[in-house]
Amino acid sequence: MIIKLDTIDSTNRYGLREFANFADNTLIVSDSQDAGRGRRGKSWHSPAGKNIYASYLIKGDQSLIEKSLWICGLAALKTLREHSTDLALWLKWPNDIYCTPKNNPSQYLKIAGLLAEMHSPAGSNTIDGVVAGMGINLNMTNSDLEKIDQPATSILNETGKEVNIANFADNLLQNLSFYRTIFEENINQLYIEWKSENGLIGKTITLQKDDNKIISGKVTDVTRNGILVLLTPDGSIHEIVTGNLVRISK
Ligand code: BTN
Repeated sequence: MIIKLDTIDSTNRYGLREFANFADNTLIVSDSQDAGRGRRGKSWHSPAGKNIYASYLIKGDQSLIEKSLWICGLAALKTLREHSTDLALWLKWPNDIYCTPKNNPSQYLKIAGLLAEMHSPAGSNTIDGVVAGMGINLNMTNSDLEKIDQPATSILNETGKEVNIANFADNLLQNLSFYRTIFEENINQLYIEWKSENGLIGKTITLQKDDNKIISGKVTDVTRNGILVLLTPDGSIHEIVTGNLVRISK
């Protein structure tokens, strides 16, 4: 089921507030958000009629948090590819979708970000589901993109073609249902596909960790718990839970 709103504070917040009133597998889409939330306490710039601001509700226990990100990451990636067939798009740890522009293969730009939040019924400390939010840049112009605090792009900016946002939302729901079925039937297959789309695996990268220390190495894995595994030149293995990508070297 799809719920379409003109405007809201945040589709994630709305999904969490109204969680009990919506069925499992509901997608909430809003034309704009006036308090869009990003990860790490950041805000998410959400102008009207430019992008997809959507939240997908999954009912179940706390183990869903990573899996909701596999479902939403793969569904958003598939939908982006269906609406822009010749873009180089890939999943970037932890929960982004990036685009490598055709005219500058050494660049990498964020085109979508995901934020999954757990829901607890009032007065309880149990988890009964997840609201997984997706912000997907579709029709932002160059000047819109300049307002974002990190290198970013949109389908319009890469292809020169506007995307029909309502069609995109309908296709997104179909693709969410597609990956939801794989999740129900073969969770291992879902993880393997998600991992295979992670563009950092096999690359040599530099990260800034939460303690501000810089670390460089080759990415050997992204685990089922969302941990990035880095092999550093001295032969040691580092498991990174959160960090900021500084550079991709090769
Ligand atoms: C990130 O920081 O990269 C995650 C951004 C997630 C933004 C989406 S937009 C729809 C949903 N509602 C929100 O308030 N945030 C998410």
